[in-house]
Amino acid sequence: MKITVIGAGHVGATTAHLLALKELAQEIVLVDIVDGIPQGKALDILESMPIIGADVHLTGTVSYEPTANSDIVIITAGLPRKPGMSRDDLLAKNADIMKSCVEQSFALSPNAIFIIVANPLDVMTYLAWKLTKLPRNKVMGMAGVLDTARYRTFIALELGVSVKDVQAFVLGGHGDDMVPIVRLTRVAGIALTDLLPEERINAIVERTRKGGGEIVNYLKTGSAYYAPATSTVEMVESIVKDRKRILPCAVALEGEYQLHDVVCGVPVKLGKNGVEEIVEIQLTDDELKALHQSAQHVRENIDKLTVLPSDQ
Ligand code: NAI
Ligand code: 2OP
Repeated sequence: MKITVIGAGHVGATTAHLLALKELAQEIVLVDIVDGIPQGKALDILESMPIIGADVHLTGTVSYEPTANSDIVIITAGLPRKPGMSRDDLLAKNADIMKSCVEQSFALSPNAIFIIVANPLDVMTYLAWKLTKLPRNKVMGMAGVLDTARYRTFIALELGVSVKDVQAFVLGGHGDDMVPIVRLTRVAGIALTDLLPEERINAIVERTRKGGGEIVNYLKTGSAYYAPATSTVEMVESIVKDRKRILPCAVALEGEYQLHDVVCGVPVKLGKNGVEEIVEIQLTDDELKALHQSAQHVRENIDKLTVLPSDQ
């Protein structure tokens, strides 16, 4: 297994570190545009391997040649938010970066599965899908795992229970209109709605929707990376180990949930072939409406892309 991580910033370097700690690949290549950063970070992680006792080989590079024949390519390269910015504010600049990263990595790793992380997440995933023209099972975005982890964190904190006992998922685009499915949220099998009053649940949903912004407001110079990297690695692990986990991921929809030609977070089965199934659950009218509103927001941003291939 060979995994390339493009973007050696906060999310990319943390992802490479976690991948190495978990020995999810024999070879990890960290790429960035700033000479010295990927080389230095990859070497630093490599030097921690004797302590871990893991024989993982890490390379840092500003050229794409060492990425050739990767099985998985993770793209984190792009600007992060600063306070007062929405993820959408990153669109034009990050679309240019995404195009350059996708084109260069895909040329050398045409059989790879692509996991997109840069924001605005759903739009960047759509762009990567269109640029590679890969079947949609091989191009996915990470957001739902992170949004769900935040939702589960806040529920566990509120109830004073183990995070392990909170089962939930958040659907929709990775924006403030994401859709936590409260009706199906369970704590050790008990409906959340039986455990908390409506106003507390609404407050948790609201905090989840603004979860990325909450961290940006603390950090001021960038956005979250520990939970995002851990979420990305959870997706990788399901693919590498063919675990067939059901995880909320951003994928291109072609009729599922009555959505077409848009990328949006939905539950999928992740295995060695990437997205092996899009799981369609029965949503209520209100849930479906919220999902469609979120997808509409993604669609409006897709329409602003100026770097889509001309035949799209
Ligand atoms: P960062 O600023 O720490 O790292 C970004 C890296 O990308 C920098 O090292 C930069 O030199 C590099 N880069 C820029 N242009 C490049 C190019 N053309 N080729 C290769 N590398 C290039 O930012 P951070 O915190 O790592 O975030 C990265 C992206 O991930 C941002 O767009 C952020 O919004 C997004 N993000 C998405 C999340 C999600 O849930 N999908 C969660 C967290 C972050
Ligand atoms: C987050 O939700 C920045 O999208 C990233 O933390």
